[in-house]
This record gives sequence, C-alpha cells and structure tokens, in this order.
Amino acid sequence: MNNTVLLEVKEGIGYITINRPEALNALSSQVLADLNHVLDQVATSEEIGVVIVTGAGEKSFVAGADIKEMDKMTPTQAFEYMTYANDTFTKLANLRQPSIAAINGYALGGGMELALSTDIRLGHEKILLGFPEVGLGIIPGFAGTQRMARLIGTSKAKELIFTARNVKAQEALELGIINHLVDVDSLMSEAEKLAKAILKNAPLAVEKAKHVINIGIDLPLSHAIRLETEAESLLFSTEDKIEGMGAFVEKRKAVFKRK
Ligand code: CAA
Repeated sequence: MNNTVLLEVKEGIGYITINRPEALNALSSQVLADLNHVLDQVATSEEIGVVIVTGAGEKSFVAGADIKEMDKMTPTQAFEYMTYANDTFTKLANLRQPSIAAINGYALGGGMELALSTDIRLGHEKILLGFPEVGLGIIPGFAGTQRMARLIGTSKAKELIFTARNVKAQEALELGIINHLVDVDSLMSEAEKLAKAILKNAPLAVEKAKHVINIGIDLPLSHAIRLETEAESLLFSTEDKIEGMGAFVEKRKAVFKRK
C-alpha cells in the first residue's frame, strides 16, 4: 500500500478516495494495486454497507489511465496493465455492497470507466466526462466500450468514443451517465443521503438485488427471471425477511441484522 487510495469507514459507509491529486488522480499501476487492495478490505468488512468512490482535491475525480506510464509500455505490458485494471474494476462492479461514484471533477478515460464500474453516479455542475482515448491513438481499455454501450446504448456510446468529445454535467444527466446532478457544495452530502437511504434496508436483500441485476443483464430474459425467482425464494430463509414483514404487520420500524 502506498496511500494512493484511501479508505475511511463511517456509519456504515466506506469512503474510497483516489488520492493522487498532483496527477489529477490518474490511474498509475500503483493506484490500481492500492485500489485492488482496498476493495479486498471492503469486500470482507462487516461494517461497510455502502461504498462512496471519489477523487482527492477540488479538480478531478480521475483524469484517466496514466498516460506517462502507458507512453513507455510494450503491447505485452499494456495487456497486463489493462487486464489488471479490468480485474480491479470488475471487483468494484461485483462488490456485494452497492457503490456510488461522487464525481467531483474530471472523469476522463479510465476515470469515466471507474465511475461506470459503480452502481450509481452523482456529479456536480462542474464535472467534465469523456473518452479522450482515440485522440491518443488507443481505445477505452478499462471496459469503457462495453460498460458505456450497455448503459446508454451502442449508438450514443459510439458517438462519445469516436469523437472523444467531452460531456458537461447536464448532458451527462440527460444521457443517463449520471443519476443526479447536484450543487458543487452538496455532492458528498447528497451521496451520503443516497447511501443512508440504501442502508435503511435489509442488506442481504439489497445485495441480492444487485447480484441479480448484474448477472441477469447478460443472460437471456427467461434465465434472468429464473435467477431472480431463486434469489427471492432464498431471501425467504433470512431472519431479515421475518423481521421486515413482521415489522410491517406490527406497524414498527424494522431492525435488520444482515442475517
Ligand atoms: N495521466 C498522467 N498524468 C496526468 C493525466 C493522465 N491521464 N492527467 C493529468 N495528468 C497530470 C499532468 O501531466 C500534470 O502533471 P505535471 O504537472 O507533472 O505536468 C498534472 O496532472 C496536472 O494536469 P494539467 O496540467 O494537464 O491540468 P489542466 O487543468 O491543464 O488539464 C486535463 C486537465 C484537461 C484533465 C488534462 O490534464 C488532460 O487532458 N489529461 C489527460 C486526460 C486523458 O486523456 N485521459 C485519458 C487517458 S487514456 C485512458 O484512460 C486509457 C484507458 O482507458 C485505459
């Protein structure tokens, strides 16, 4: 660990901060290794129910993969770098806990791809998003071609990727890249509000919902529905299901235990 990625835990929320502000939080190999390590800590944490990912400093969420490092890479090294980044981002996408990106500035290239690996994205009025890669002679290599196409559709994703055009906050909202556009000063409090709204609910149910959506989206509909049915019936064996329905019947607030 080199402290290029920080993890703080408060009231059920795990705050992951990409902490390389001198390079606008660009994703060097060191940052990716630290992120991978932090994600392992999150995955095994009993305390963390929701994750918020953000960038250190005022200017940038993440300004992309590290161009200075990539400048010197051979194809073999590039393959290893991209594969490791994709394994790390997939670990984030598949975390059992829901994740929220609090986009606080530039989210370009690998930064956009990091945000796309979270479940829900918030951004403020001054964010700038995009895929500059084709202007550098490469393509988005941390799954941006795939995750963006799945999120906003192939045609809109192709336009963004082929033109390398940057998108401001309002357009990002209209395209569905960010879920909410908030004031600069309230970005973190809005992300926390969303995290707390999730934390009120039965954790195993939220985790199962995430799992079923993530897996189901790549399956034929009939298989995906079957997956949902199986997940649903499994939840009927949990203490939290008994608590949730019992609390409704008894007109009181449910207290969930992730059991
Ligand atoms: N990689 C490495 N260093 C970066 C970086 C990146 N992606 N982005 C910014 N930096 C560094 C700059 O080199 C600079 O360092 P020095 O002070 O040592 O020169 C420092 O961060 C501050 O950056 P700027 O001086 O450029 O800041 P600015 O406010 O003038 O411009 C910016 C900001 C428009 C974001 C500009 O920095 C920029 O265009 N950055 C590159 C964005 C980009 O192309 N990202 C995609 C990378 S490719 C990718 O991500 C591939 C993939 O999918 C795998």
